[in-house]
Amino acid sequence: MARKIVAGNWKMNLLAEEAEKLLKNIESKKNNLDCELIVCPSAIYLQNAVATSLKIGAQNVAKYPNGAYTGEWSSEMLGSLGVEYCIVGHSERREYFQETDEEVNIKVLRLLKNGVNPIFCCGETLAQRENGELEEVILRQISIGLKGLKKEDLSAVVVAYEPVWAIGTGLTASSDQAQEVHAFIRDLLIKLYGAEASEIPILYGGSCKPSNAKELFACKDIDGGLIGGAALDADSFIAIANSF
Ligand code: PGA
Repeated sequence: MARKIVAGNWKMNLLAEEAEKLLKNIESKKNNLDCELIVCPSAIYLQNAVATSLKIGAQNVAKYPNGAYTGEWSSEMLGSLGVEYCIVGHSERREYFQETDEEVNIKVLRLLKNGVNPIFCCGETLAQRENGELEEVILRQISIGLKGLKKEDLSAVVVAYEPVWAIGTGLTASSDQAQEVHAFIRDLLIKLYGAEASEIPILYGGSCKPSNAKELFACKDIDGGLIGGAALDADSFIAIANSF
């Protein structure tokens, strides 16, 4: 069975003092959880975040190795800092920064090479769902984005299914809708990478909150959540992590 994970994606939120406070708050409340807890603050706060007892993830990484790429940070840097995870292919990166499946794939492979576990995001827009393209979209995102994984990489990878129409909108996929796609993703991963891929955690993301986490996490193929808005409050983040 895949391990249980709850990861908080802070996105581009919080001022320095607020970020420090939230890290401390989460740290003080995270005892006795039945899941792995990961916090993904803005890159500028990573150095402070890795000094806590929390598992830390970045929200993005350059597709290039170290070199003359002003304003970027590399997977080598994340690895050397002790950042354990990095979100890749989030729909906001795909939409606002025109990130392609091919670029996502480069980032995934570079992260793995540098000992950072990718949290690979996929998900359809409302229009794609309504046009019956859901499976085609997920198939494309996963087969290109996770291309070239070796057997030994499988235990490092985390997948997050985030229907774009549910992110930050208050609309959550129903547990049936989410489970259906998670089962599709699980089968696809096994088809592509063999039986060991059944161990890859598949997280749900999109308006997940304390009031709906239990129902979502009870589904067979939902191994946890990637939490945006509700991760900005220690109590609601921890309540979600306590929903298994
Ligand atoms: P949300 O964001 O929980 O605010 O919908 C989830 C995400 O984008 O990872």
